[in-house]
Amino acid sequence: MPAQTRPAALRDPQGRVLDYLRLAVTDRCNLRCRYCMPADGIALVDHDDVLRFEEMERLCRLLVTRGVRKIRITGGEPLVRRGVVDFMARLGALPGSPEILLTTNGVLLRGRLDDLRLAGVRRINLSLDSLDPATFETIARRDVLADVLPLLDEIPAAGLGLKVNVVVLPGVNDHELPDFVELTRDRDLTVRFIEPMPFDGTGLLAGRSIDGDGILEILNSRVHLERAVGDPRGVDEIYAVEGWRGRVGLIRGHSRTFCATCSRLRIDAQGALRTCLYGAARVSLRTLIRTGATDDELIAAIGAAVAGRFDDGHAAARDRDDPAHQSMASIGG
Ligand code: 5AD
Ligand code: SF4
Repeated sequence: MPAQTRPAALRDPQGRVLDYLRLAVTDRCNLRCRYCMPADGIALVDHDDVLRFEEMERLCRLLVTRGVRKIRITGGEPLVRRGVVDFMARLGALPGSPEILLTTNGVLLRGRLDDLRLAGVRRINLSLDSLDPATFETIARRDVLADVLPLLDEIPAAGLGLKVNVVVLPGVNDHELPDFVELTRDRDLTVRFIEPMPFDGTGLLAGRSIDGDGILEILNSRVHLERAVGDPRGVDEIYAVEGWRGRVGLIRGHSRTFCATCSRLRIDAQGALRTCLYGAARVSLRTLIRTGATDDELIAAIGAAVAGRFDDGHAAARDRDDPAHQSMASIGG
């Protein structure tokens, strides 16, 4: 398509271009991480209210025509939804060839790495909060660390990029931070430490938190990290131990220091569109689709949501009438 006829990119009032979609394909999960949901889980969305793959594909196709280049498949746990790997392959084959990424807890991942690579997936974010079986079970409320640990070697061996996401929980897994850094000695992977955010389905997490400086303090007392160059539009500050193969990242998700360059749109499993993790859903794309909206009408609705985007996650949170007592599994991390 010649440049002059290409539709304009999605640009918010601050001039930020939204070219990255995080798409939650389900709100179901096979774990019950305590920072994400209560022990008995969250109220699940009715099956009929979850977007069908064809509906998601239509939204992705439209968004790619508006400049979205990167689509991350999230959940819940994406791999609990049947057909998700074929779905990713179809997304990767859309005109415009967006990059397709996956965030997973890894429990159902072993044995599927080749399928994912064939589907066009190049990089995986693995959520893993402990390397110790008992602590893992304390956090995830399931005793399945043994299903996940081998992936630390199997993912790179399959030729896929790997980022390990660790939510830091004071008094629970903070003593393991050096063990996680140790993973970067010989492996080509990035371990990223994440500030806990108040999305545990109850709002209770807010009281027991740690911020990025607290995380850095723990790290610096145990290992010598140098600041390294990361993606200027990424949400992570990058560090590394000199001479080690991998890298260490810090995501100040609760402090929200990276909003000025945020390029993310989110669509949850019910088809609600968010322009900020901390903000309310802006529009139900599912309702529009199921009441017969045309492509142009869908694009207009997405454009209107983007036009109303707040400056940052603090402003977006202030705008909500309800406190954000949601679960990350229903927002679509
Ligand atoms: N705070 C920080 N990160 C969270 N995640 C889920 N809930 C929270 C929370 N309350 C993370 C998961 C995963 C990503 C999708 O979001 O661990 O890495
Ligand atoms: Fe599942 Fe991820 Fe929530 Fe853990 S954080 S319960 S793996 S959706």
